[in-house]
Amino acid sequence: MQNVQSMKAVVQTQFGSPEVLTVQTVPVPAIGPRDVRVRVLASPVTSGDRRLRSADFPGISMVPGRLLMGITRPRHAIPGTMFAGRVEAIGAEVTRFAVGDDVFGSCDGGAHAEYLSVSEGGPIAAMPEGMDHAEAAAVPYGAVTALMVLRDAGGVAPGERVLIVGAAGEVGRFAVQMARHLGARVTAVCAADDFDLVRSLGAEEVIDYRAEDFTESDRRWDVVFDTADATRYGRCKRVLSEGGRFLSIHLTVRTLLAVLATSLFGRRKAKLVFAMGGAEGMAAVRALLVSGALRPVVGRRLPLGRIAEAHETRGVPRGSAVVTMAEAVALRRAA
Ligand SMILES: NC(=O)c1ccc[n+]([C@@H]2O[C@H](COP(=O)([O-])OP(=O)(O)OC[C@H]3O[C@@H](n4cnc5c(N)ncnc54)[C@H](OP(=O)(O)O)[C@@H]3O)[C@@H](O)[C@H]2O)c1
Repeated sequence: MQNVQSMKAVVQTQFGSPEVLTVQTVPVPAIGPRDVRVRVLASPVTSGDRRLRSADFPGISMVPGRLLMGITRPRHAIPGTMFAGRVEAIGAEVTRFAVGDDVFGSCDGGAHAEYLSVSEGGPIAAMPEGMDHAEAAAVPYGAVTALMVLRDAGGVAPGERVLIVGAAGEVGRFAVQMARHLGARVTAVCAADDFDLVRSLGAEEVIDYRAEDFTESDRRWDVVFDTADATRYGRCKRVLSEGGRFLSIHLTVRTLLAVLATSLFGRRKAKLVFAMGGAEGMAAVRALLVSGALRPVVGRRLPLGRIAEAHETRGVPRGSAVVTMAEAVALRRAA
């Protein structure tokens, strides 16, 4: 173990535009007896990170958002919630990981830094062979969300018809693959430019949301997963089969009312999901990567110093924007 005392990290002391993010030298985080210290080699900038940066919590999500993430300033001075890297030190009671292991996972904050301290019992898993750190870092956000929504809340069963709204986004790309893995027949709603991408991920049918409103369709789906907050239960009800489920990851009044109403009446259900993946979620996602059921799509790789640019490069080119640290390429694992 190296006795490193300081590190480069992105620091954010106020909410705002990407300019609030500065790279500074700060102390390396300490580790407790059940913690591992990870030399972070890649960390994506997700839609969640962008929301946290600017305190962009729409509608009623402002209340839990501010309470959890900071009322006047960010709760976590170092942003970054997803990571891949190499274990550099372990606490005295750690049993799951050893120094030198390549790992990936999620955390409450602190991943946009050279070192990160996380509990070994948290959402962290060994990286599959054959992935590089940027690819691995791009997985947990969308994949764990898709797992919790489609497998756990949605109970997607083989042969069901699943429609994914926002299928080319961070969550949507994994949702398409997850639904397919669960045996569903997938319809992807996205821009026409993304048809090839979503088909390559397993979508059988595609709908261009700019040209067609799927809620006007004569077809029926067993599950509609709205990743984009682009529609609502009331509109989707008529295209849901008997026993169909509308799944949302957006806290809005109308979704809450739909969840309440459908819990009391009718066979069609609306469900609101907050993906809080723990170690089990990461283990399940890891297994799906190993089996080939899931794959990440990495768009841009930028060094830590270009964090503001990474926050601005949303979706162009299509795929996750990942901040990489210098050693990521040198430590690339062989397949
Ligand atoms: N509750 C939870 O646990 C949870 C977990 C993860 C994420 N989220 C939230 O989920 C949202 C999506 O996250 P993300 O990372 O997937 O975002 P993202 O990467 O920005 O993807 C959003 C996608 O939605 C598409 N879209 C926009 N308007 C649409 C419309 N009218 N119809 C169909 N598609 C449309 C966008 O397409 P274009 O590029 O063509 O505009 C884009 O591909 C964010 O608001 C995030 O905060 C919640």
